[in-house]
Amino acid sequence: MQATLKKKILLGVTGGIAAYKSAELLRLLVRAGAEVRVVMTAAACEFVQPLTFHALSGNRVYTDIFDADAESAMDHIELARWADFMVIAPASADFIAKLNQGYGDNILLTLCLASKQPVAIAPAMNQQMYANAATQDNLASLADRGILIWGPDSGEQACGDVGLGRMLEAETLLQELEMHFRPGKLASKRVLITAGPTLEAIDPVRYISNHSSGKMGYALARAAQSAGAEVTLVSGPVNLAIPAGTKRISVNSALEMRDAVMERVEETDIFIACAAVSDYRVEQQAVQKIKKTDDQLQLLLIRNPDIVSEVTAFGNPPFCIGFAAETENLEAHAKAKLKRKNLDMIAANLVGNSDTGFGHDSNELHLFWADGQLHLKLASKQLIAQQLIDQMANLYLAQN
Ligand code: C5P
Repeated sequence: MQATLKKKILLGVTGGIAAYKSAELLRLLVRAGAEVRVVMTAAACEFVQPLTFHALSGNRVYTDIFDADAESAMDHIELARWADFMVIAPASADFIAKLNQGYGDNILLTLCLASKQPVAIAPAMNQQMYANAATQDNLASLADRGILIWGPDSGEQACGDVGLGRMLEAETLLQELEMHFRPGKLASKRVLITAGPTLEAIDPVRYISNHSSGKMGYALARAAQSAGAEVTLVSGPVNLAIPAGTKRISVNSALEMRDAVMERVEETDIFIACAAVSDYRVEQQAVQKIKKTDDQLQLLLIRNPDIVSEVTAFGNPPFCIGFAAETENLEAHAKAKLKRKNLDMIAANLVGNSDTGFGHDSNELHLFWADGQLHLKLASKQLIAQQLIDQMANLYLAQN
């Protein structure tokens, strides 16, 4: 077998019946050329003997944070630094909850806390536990922080239930790992993304804005970065952490956002306009706070520049993607906007649905381009972002 994965992999095993599949994963990893060290929680040891993993990896298995012998050979911080990648398979509901909360009460959790390397988890649990809102919230929040979530699969479960919750097969997990280490589709491409709302001042203390949370744009930044791109986010005011490995330029108004984008457009390969830019701004901002002396107050609003249209009108424009939020006739409106704004691709969604759009963690999108379309089914914004970036990269690479 070819050595396709010459990497140092830390395999974490938590308590679940799927732990037996991890032995197979370990065997495949070793055959693919990886050096693997295994860390097991106490619950995992109830399902499979550490000796199995010891024999298959050729290395001692770490099960206890207070094991002086193991710590003297390679302490847990050193072990976290040693790994190129951590994969936790199976990841139980309990482990996922603790990982999300930042607990460190077993050796695997402390390693996750101490690691700067990418971490992937392969959830495995009963379908009802997987569907539970607490588990879904934990997974969404881990995905937001850049933890890779691989699976679960659906099908028959050890308990007799049928549904989503089975751990991915060992071969599939190996493929995910191999894909992760392949140079990304957007390697060394420069991607500029606008995100969040804009804020248009009325006077020094008041403004006009909208409910955009910025989550979709930030998820896209993360997905593009994972695909190998150099990412710059031009972000309106939002309450989100800068995605690891990306650069953020913070702006308030549409005019500031336009300037930040146009300054960088020449050095951009791909532009994604995800911001909810205010269509209008107050013509004359008051220098002092406006006093409530009259019963009525009239504000004259004037149109803001259309940033994405300015980018597509630029001499040698980057590959451009826009968004369209529609309340009806999604396809017709989106296609018209694709043409009007001269975009290469448009991502449209129906707004007014309770699960998607502003502020939500999930989304559903319809992608349209000149001669094709793709429906991205309701999923977490991070997953939708990965699918969008993947499709966009295919189109971009076909043209460039
Ligand atoms: O025309 P509409 O606002 O529906 O278009 C939405 C798309 O255009 C989004 O991609 C949005 O980021 C972009 N846009 C922009 N500048 C504006 C208004 C919208 O870049 N002033």
